[in-house]
Amino acid sequence: MIFGRVKPLDAILATAEKKSLTRTLGPWQLTLLGVGAIIGTGIFVLTSEAAQKAGPGMMWSFVIAGLVCAVAALCYSELASMVPVAGSAYTYTYAVMGELLAWMVGFALILEYAVSASAVSVGWSGYFVGLLANAGIVLPPALTQGFYAPGGFINLPAMVIALLVTGLLMIGTTESARVNAVLVVIKVTALVIFIAITLPMMKGQNFDPFMPNGWTGPGLGTGFGALGAAASIFFAYVGFDAVSTAAEETKNPQRNVPIGLIGALGICTVFYLLVSAGAIGAVGAQPIAAPGGGLLQPGSTAFASQCQSLLAAGREPLVCSKEALAFVLRQAGHPALGNMIGIAAFVALPSVILIMLFGQTRIFFVMARDGLLPTGLAKIHPKWKTPHVITMITGVAVAGFAAFLPVGQLADISNSGTLFAFFMVALSVLVLRRTQPDRHRPFRTPFVYIVAPLAIIGTVGLYVSLPLEAMLVLPVWGGIGLVIYFLYGYRKSNVALGIIEVHELDADAPPEPLPPHA
Ligand code: ALA
Repeated sequence: MIFGRVKPLDAILATAEKKSLTRTLGPWQLTLLGVGAIIGTGIFVLTSEAAQKAGPGMMWSFVIAGLVCAVAALCYSELASMVPVAGSAYTYTYAVMGELLAWMVGFALILEYAVSASAVSVGWSGYFVGLLANAGIVLPPALTQGFYAPGGFINLPAMVIALLVTGLLMIGTTESARVNAVLVVIKVTALVIFIAITLPMMKGQNFDPFMPNGWTGPGLGTGFGALGAAASIFFAYVGFDAVSTAAEETKNPQRNVPIGLIGALGICTVFYLLVSAGAIGAVGAQPIAAPGGGLLQPGSTAFASQCQSLLAAGREPLVCSKEALAFVLRQAGHPALGNMIGIAAFVALPSVILIMLFGQTRIFFVMARDGLLPTGLAKIHPKWKTPHVITMITGVAVAGFAAFLPVGQLADISNSGTLFAFFMVALSVLVLRRTQPDRHRPFRTPFVYIVAPLAIIGTVGLYVSLPLEAMLVLPVWGGIGLVIYFLYGYRKSNVALGIIEVHELDADAPPEPLPPHA
């Protein structure tokens, strides 16, 4: 029975033990690490998409998505501390639920990591194009947007940044803790300035109506309403797994991991709420409707056309902006500060692309090492010491998606994969508590029989609140994954061949580059 193909936890742990890291991280460093990985395109760009879906009610969306992430994060931490090896949710599932489900999770993680790298690339492009436009250089839409926009053809800046970051990863560039700290300061300063400028400008009437599309718009599957926006804005919190995966480098993980996780998520939630309140209060955030009334899906051709007509008529609503935060400050009479926010996004977003792409290549690497993907893919470059083949293939795919798809759709697709992975993690925690109750758990999820079911309900709830197309991507992608598994991994996997090896040199994926928090 293939569900019985479990990679023994002890073998995984033996692999990890070959490389025991010194415990150096305290609660502050962990929190900083989390904030660095979390803040990105979600708040800088998707705020306008959330406004189109929910209006001022997007404030609820930030709270709901943050809560789901908090409970999922607590489950993540238990497994991360028990199974502190590369591959995150994929490895945990391999140990708990067996090879087939692990493969499916690994396949879904491609959506989380690779597609989110595409989404962040497109978000970066919006800021880059906006900065150029403010400097008097207007690029034609054919070069800055995909076919979905009128006159659009290819998003060249998004493609170029994705390929540039891929190139850096191939030659072994990695983000150091110091660079991360500098970028966190830049991002947080930008948000603090934004809040300081916009909060005093708040007008009560801009919050009315508060929930123009209710909780679900015309219904689930449309992606509208505060729940629809929560499912999209969930993207803004993705990245906190960086904290869980640092569990083995943490002093007193039982205490510090939850502080780091909840601290990072809490800080980001407060920032996100203040930023969205400032944006709504200063310039308004009501959705725009089709000429004959009716909802317009952000990123759709109809939406882009309506934005163009409004612009031609001298109106520029927040929901149409591709650089939400810079736009708000410019509208509010602070063009120089708007440009400054633009520069902050321009500088800081590529590091989020790097973290995501890096995560993807590591997961592919571990899957190839387990025999589920051709081992040739995991080849390490003799000089660069990086898995260059898989990095290049991933980067080209990421650039391709970034070139042709809108940011919101990419974020939604990424969310569908991430939600599935988090769902499996929450389930794995429960299963493992029953099947291996005595195993050492450096961190135990508090109130696990409440927290894990809440994470399961939350991830399912957000998943069914996504737009139908994004929801469908998961089963279709999963179907493709199944076909590949039965054509390849089913016969070739190490577990199938009876190889349970312990890697000494590459105990934790590619020797170079080091993880972002190294
Ligand atoms: N949370 C990350 C971002 O918003 C993925 O860019």
